[in-house]
Amino acid sequence: MPATPAPVRFGLVGFGAWGQLHAQSIARLPDARLAGIAAPSAASRAAAAAAHPGVPVYPDHHALLAAGGLDIVDVVTPSHTHLEVASDALAAGCDVLLEKPMALSVADCRALVVKARALGRKLAVGHELRLSSQWGEIRRLIDRGVIGEPQYVLVELSRKPYRQGASGWRYDPARVGSWVLEEPIHFFDLARWYLEGAGHPVELHALGNSRDPSRPGLYDNFSATFRYANGAYAVVSQTLAAFEHHQTVKIAGRRGAIWAGWSGALDRTLEPSFFLKVFDGERLENVALARHSGEVFELREEIARCVGMVRGECPPAANGEDGLWSTALCLIAEESIRQGRPLPVGDLLAPG
Ligand SMILES: NC(=O)c1ccc[n+]([C@@H]2O[C@H](COP(=O)([O-])OP(=O)(O)OC[C@H]3O[C@@H](n4cnc5c(N)ncnc54)[C@H](OP(=O)(O)O)[C@@H]3O)[C@@H](O)[C@H]2O)c1
Repeated sequence: MPATPAPVRFGLVGFGAWGQLHAQSIARLPDARLAGIAAPSAASRAAAAAAHPGVPVYPDHHALLAAGGLDIVDVVTPSHTHLEVASDALAAGCDVLLEKPMALSVADCRALVVKARALGRKLAVGHELRLSSQWGEIRRLIDRGVIGEPQYVLVELSRKPYRQGASGWRYDPARVGSWVLEEPIHFFDLARWYLEGAGHPVELHALGNSRDPSRPGLYDNFSATFRYANGAYAVVSQTLAAFEHHQTVKIAGRRGAIWAGWSGALDRTLEPSFFLKVFDGERLENVALARHSGEVFELREEIARCVGMVRGECPPAANGEDGLWSTALCLIAEESIRQGRPLPVGDLLAPG
């Protein structure tokens, strides 16, 4: 009988709102072990120690890495720290699960891709919507040809304003980068994934505005359109000036169409309502989903997927190149808003 593999040892950097859910997802998985947590403030360290007794807690990622014994480092810190923490984890010989946005610039994303490749390490980026029973099922329907070649993709969210984050980083452009890099980045990733058969996007045009003129560039309302050489296009749209959390995906193919919706009082509710309808050109079906849809559930799938990735059993759901692409589309969107015109996307993956 083959020996049972040892649990994959995770080091977690960041124990804020989302990091705590990463910790829970790791701790509940028999194939994973939470081997250490790093968080700078005494309050976060106390919270980590109380929630995960027996797990060593460190003041920073240097101490976590120096303690050793890790297979993978899970980086769930404010976005401006991603490059440094992920880079150090790779240099320490660990695989990495890096939250989105992978980094705040294309050059930094590329540096991480190059470094992971040079060191032979695996790099997963936190685009967990791909692992959703609902948003992932849409990709499987497209792959099976149920609606024919997709020509139009809409990913839309209306929600309440973002949380501030530890020491207000999410409202500080120097640390958050932008609000496009917060939530719309997931929708750029999903839309690009659904339209993968069309190649790479060629042109992008975006609009955005803010409720509060004292924070220009942090857009409460944001919409972008990007198109492909074959004429297919996607619309990514979000308002933060609304209430609760309501996401929609609509896709039209050459033969049929898909409509999916997700609603919760909060983004992290454990009791969301959701549906997925598919029309194959003749018949309309309400697709029964085997599992709950929602980011808490997708996070659990993502941690399980990383166990497989570390063991060499499967690739990450989204890799460094995917993280680079979604970051780049966000940054081009912001530039398009600044310049007030559509911009070419170009070959972002070409070495620069
Ligand atoms: N994939 C998704 O769906 C998703 C969802 C939410 C967030 N995110 C991403 O996850 C990241 C964290 O978001 P969050 O909402 O959890 O933020 P948060 O609630 O503000 O938590 C951030 C945590 O990082 C810690 N931290 C700050 N600087 C650090 C450093 N240099 N080294 C180690 N830890 C550091 C903070 O420590 P103290 O508390 O001790 O100050 C805090 O525990 C962001 O990049 C965000 O975009 C992704």
